Amino acid sequence: MWFARGVTPTADSSLPGQLHPVQTPGRAVAAVHRPQSVVQALQLLADDPDRLPLAGGTDLLLDLHRGGVGPSVEVVDLTAIADFDSIEETSEELVLSGGVRHGQVIADDRFIRYATPLAQACLEIGSPQLRNRATIAGNLATASPANDTLSALLALGAAVELSTWDGAAVQARRVAVADFFTGFRATVLQPNELITRIVVPKLRANQRGLWVKLGNRRAQAISVIHAAFVVDIDDGIVSGATVAVGSMAATVMLVPGIGAALAGTSLDSTAITAAADAARNAFEPIDDVRATAQYRRDAVESLVTRSLLAIRDQQHRSQWPEVVPGLHSALSHVPQTARTVVTDNTAISMNVNGGELSGDGASSANLLDWLRNAGAAVERTLDGTKEGCAEGECGACTVQLNGAAVMACIVQAAQADGGTVVTVEGLATTDEGLHPIQQAFIDEFAVQCGYCIPGFLMAGCSLVDEVPNPTDEQIKLGLSGNLCRCTGYYPIIQAVKSAAERLASDRLEANR
Ligand SMILES: Cc1cc2nc3c(=O)[nH]c(=O)nc-3n(C[C@H](O)[C@H](O)[C@H](O)COP(=O)(O)OP(=O)(O)OC[C@H]3O[C@@H](n4cnc5c(N)ncnc54)[C@H](O)[C@@H]3O)c2cc1C
Ligand code: FES
Ligand code: FES
Repeated sequence: MWFARGVTPTADSSLPGQLHPVQTPGRAVAAVHRPQSVVQALQLLADDPDRLPLAGGTDLLLDLHRGGVGPSVEVVDLTAIADFDSIEETSEELVLSGGVRHGQVIADDRFIRYATPLAQACLEIGSPQLRNRATIAGNLATASPANDTLSALLALGAAVELSTWDGAAVQARRVAVADFFTGFRATVLQPNELITRIVVPKLRANQRGLWVKLGNRRAQAISVIHAAFVVDIDDGIVSGATVAVGSMAATVMLVPGIGAALAGTSLDSTAITAAADAARNAFEPIDDVRATAQYRRDAVESLVTRSLLAIRDQQHRSQWPEVVPGLHSALSHVPQTARTVVTDNTAISMNVNGGELSGDGASSANLLDWLRNAGAAVERTLDGTKEGCAEGECGACTVQLNGAAVMACIVQAAQADGGTVVTVEGLATTDEGLHPIQQAFIDEFAVQCGYCIPGFLMAGCSLVDEVPNPTDEQIKLGLSGNLCRCTGYYPIIQAVKSAAERLASDRLEANR
């Protein structure tokens, strides 16, 4: 099991009785600091380097939970910092602030055009709900060799800006991604430093980029191998090539020898075979639960061959979907909150389904538990949002937070303070009755035990709002973060289609 930077499993993590890690008590979060500027965040880290930066929380919160009982921690939440998710473009670079999420990269056409491998990597991370929270900086800082954006950033020649507060001013240093990783889940990042920018050089007109992943299932899969390619081609002849691979060794690595194997060729089959051989022989691959070393060796050869053929035939962007459902109406948001620190005794509040809801117990609780408990305390039923896996895998806890579908089990409740939440209880209205998507699930027999259904309804509702007439493929992509163990997916897909049709005809009627 892997743990986020700064989280060390304690002796208590091996509890008797073989409980699943999500059933064991984790480390309490004593305080969630919510700075509203980068300077404030850096000062909080400088004051106490044991504080941990918290972005989307999709690695850190799980690791705190899985690490077993230990001393409580304080976290510095980066999601309330204004403009920390901004993206700037210069003639040569795309410059991402430290809080940019994978979902933003996918939604912004500049990335598929100018940083193709990064866009393709972000699209393969987790699920839409996860991508609406998880950041690229978090992916870098966790530094697992399986983390998908790492090979893309390495092949593109990206760099990170690392900032600290020295007591009087912000100090920043720039580190190439090639120099950022020092070993297995180890980086040059110091405890009081933040990744404040990620600088991605734009692909030049003569460069073609591609990123590929081999995983054991379509969504939520940890890569068995991921690889990124940037090939310079002038008048059909290769003048340079960079290939980075992840999940093959302790860190993500550049494959030596590929540039030499391809330079001066037209990507003919002899050159491609030489490049694939170079990749096969470059590493002593890791051998783990996801694949044997021998499988990885064979697979990397085949991945390199297929990828170079795609690049040669200009098919490197052909798999990019025309419409990418992100399950959000707004992604760049900063909830306004007066509270700069939340402990378990601080009452937080948010707008839930149109009404204000307050409650305490927020620094340790995730949004799922907080909603259910705070609702029960004031006799407002909010138990429709379900816990299936408690680790971001099943989608049963999907709610909309500030316009984006998220997994409530991996959002710290304090991070939603001052925000707007819609749960399944907010879909039906008293005057109009069931939401069309709820009715469609009934009409299409898309429900058996019903446990997963609130999550499907919330994801489906975001999907039909965003993509008015979704195809089967778009529905599959949009619902890829939701699992159902008993109904089966065909009636669910049909229900979403029916709801979209009903909404389209309602809109037509309203416009007559
Ligand atoms: C169900 C599920 C599926 C997943 N699927 C994938 C997948 O397919 N591919 C993949 O690569 N990953 C996957 N992940 C892992 C995770 O979502 C990513 O690594 C994500 O990018 C982490 O970003 P975050 O914002 O959530 O980081 P957090 O969890 O908030 O933080 C992770 C680490 O980074 C540090 N950190 C965060 N921001 C900064 C910053 N600006 N400066 C310095 N340190 C910082 C934190 O202190 C912590 O140590 C998955 C996770 C889950 C739960
Ligand atoms: S994704 Fe939250 S309970 Fe499964
Ligand atoms: S309806 Fe039973 S798990 Fe989906």
